[in-house]
Amino acid sequence: MLSLSSSPLIPTLLLLLSLPLLFLLIPHLLPPRPHPISLPDDLDDLSLFRKAAAVSPPHRSLPSSKSRLGSTNPKPKIAFLFLTNSDLHFAPLWEIFFANGSTNQFNIYVHADPTVKINPPGGVFSADRFVPAKKTERSSATLISAARRLIANALIDDPSNAFFALLSQHCIPLHSFNFVYNTLFHRSIAELAQLGTLQYRSFIEILTTKKILWARYNARGKNVMLPEVPFDQFRVGSQFFVLTRRHAVLVIRDRRLWRKFRLPCVWIQSCYPEEHYFPTLLSMEDPEGCTGYTLTRVNWTDSINGHPHTYRSQELSTELIYNLRKSNFTHSYLFARKFSPDCLSPLLNISNSVIFRD
Ligand SMILES: *[C@@H]1O[C@H](CO)[C@@H](O)[C@H](O)[C@H]1NC(C)=O
Ligand SMILES: *[C@@H]1O[C@H](CO)[C@@H](O)[C@H](O)[C@H]1NC(C)=O
Ligand SMILES: *[C@@H]1O[C@H](CO)[C@@H](O)[C@H](O)[C@H]1NC(C)=O
Ligand SMILES: *[C@@H]1O[C@H](CO)[C@@H](O)[C@H](O)[C@H]1NC(C)=O
Repeated sequence: MLSLSSSPLIPTLLLLLSLPLLFLLIPHLLPPRPHPISLPDDLDDLSLFRKAAAVSPPHRSLPSSKSRLGSTNPKPKIAFLFLTNSDLHFAPLWEIFFANGSTNQFNIYVHADPTVKINPPGGVFSADRFVPAKKTERSSATLISAARRLIANALIDDPSNAFFALLSQHCIPLHSFNFVYNTLFHRSIAELAQLGTLQYRSFIEILTTKKILWARYNARGKNVMLPEVPFDQFRVGSQFFVLTRRHAVLVIRDRRLWRKFRLPCVWIQSCYPEEHYFPTLLSMEDPEGCTGYTLTRVNWTDSINGHPHTYRSQELSTELIYNLRKSNFTHSYLFARKFSPDCLSPLLNISNSVIFRD
């Protein structure tokens, strides 16, 4: 008589029975795949970007920063764009920062992930400063969309917005508002006079030499970026930048590169679309119009899991602020990241004596 255990049928049967179980388990064993951007969301954005492009002809000249006597030209403003998926922990610090500027010098816009409960800080971050937002996720193009949504809203809201500074809830200012404003406008004007051109430049990091570039390029699948983005034109840079109005318009008008960058990643560990889209697009379209460096200091020493060093309150000192300002480029750093929420109190302590002293 044939014993059950010796039958070759049993292991085969068991294997067959376990197959559905394996399919159930596999999604949990692999890293989570971010959801691709849905068509309705994309169409929604497209209509917003069209609206923003319509109020911003591509070659419109910038508002003059030197208001001549009798001129009705308003002062050019900086649009501060806060991209967040948590509370704005440093709102009290920013509040002091903005108190040094006048309302005809800046506007604030916040894109807060609607799936996270966020306590509105009030003050300069009043509810009407929050733009219509959508869910954001790491390792997906949703962070590009959120940045473009902020830019589009700022373009539509105020034609005086001349610079667009993208920041996060973990960013802090390293200088006073007055210093930031003068760095972007007045010093640039001296520079412009030197260059003999009448265009401001964007402060955006544009790098080619990173070893990671090939893996990042193929994160959506091998060669899917072709033909729009050849590998030798693919760039990397900090997610945080200060764009001119001309470039802000260029970014919301783009559809060609977006078609590729919006594709979901196959390789999550190499998926940082927001670090590539803006540097690649601007370096393809107008490299001369970009400084190639960012004004936001970040410390990548011992970075973990794609996150830079996060400063804790024990590390804060006057010296740290002075060190973070130091740059190898023409301008000193104006902002820095990342700071944990417990840094607020020591930062407030040195805000007037150190940070906003200039
Ligand atoms: C604020 O800005 C003005 C110029 O608008 C400057 O003279 C003043 O020193 C600044 N104050 C602080 C505390 O930063
Ligand atoms: C950068 O972070 C490392 C720790 O990861 C720290 O030792 C170093 O002091 C930091 N550099 C600056 C300029 O803060
Ligand atoms: C400036 O360049 C030097 C030499 O390459 C480098 O060690 C240093 O970290 C750079 N400083 C900053 C702030 O990037
Ligand atoms: C506040 O800053 C001063 C130096 O400016 C320092 O001596 C003091 O310990 C700081 N206090 C707190 C609570 O951080």
